[in-house]
Amino acid sequence: MSLLREILVQNTHDAGEIVFSQIANLLSQNQLHNIGLATGSTMLPVYKAWRASTLDFTQVNTFNLDEYLGLGAQHHQSYSYFMHEQLFNHIVFKKHFLLNGQTNTPEQECQQYEQLLNEHPLDLQLLGVGENGHIAFNEPLTAIHSTTQIADLTESTIFANSRFFKKNESVPKQALTMGIQSILNAKKIIIVMMGEKKRAAYQKLMAKKIDPKWPVSYLNQHPDVTIITDLNG
Ligand code: GLP
Repeated sequence: MSLLREILVQNTHDAGEIVFSQIANLLSQNQLHNIGLATGSTMLPVYKAWRASTLDFTQVNTFNLDEYLGLGAQHHQSYSYFMHEQLFNHIVFKKHFLLNGQTNTPEQECQQYEQLLNEHPLDLQLLGVGENGHIAFNEPLTAIHSTTQIADLTESTIFANSRFFKKNESVPKQALTMGIQSILNAKKIIIVMMGEKKRAAYQKLMAKKIDPKWPVSYLNQHPDVTIITDLNG
């Protein structure tokens, strides 16, 4: 059964403040032991609000959704680099877990990560969304029962990401990503959808029907999803 809660915000700053206040709330109720984190520009205001806090996260483990295959933690476009810059260099956690994009054994890396997730059930998963409706790097037509896996990125995602790379050839074509099922296993989900580019994905989610061409619509299978958005009407 799906329960979508929607919180309308005016701007990205307010989106970040609201998301962080929900994180802080769970922490204060001792209901935050494992949190799933996302990357992307949508998350920048969330991490800004987080960095400004003095709350104690030393008993909380973090798990990131995805990583480009082939990029190491030192690469300035890797998600590991992003997370260290935005959060891990500023806030102390019990442990932060990230998929290793430089692994020589990607299948094994995915299996091990899924096992870690099973051992540390997520209390909360933060999500952004791709313009084509992907969540993490689960592209259109990814199966609902998918677990952590190697994903081939679509042309549109590669194009959307190319703005961050100097040369088009260096834009990664594959990623390691938590699957749809791994995401749906989280107790609570907060998805942030800001700006007109995300309107189609927003509408697919709000249609309250599952459409495998729009992975974001799978969230309708989850009992506790909060949408933070400026896209009403
Ligand atoms: C990438 C990430 C997603 C993220 C998306 C949106 O594809 N894998 O997790 O939601 O980018 O990025 P942005 O917030 O920059 O629009």
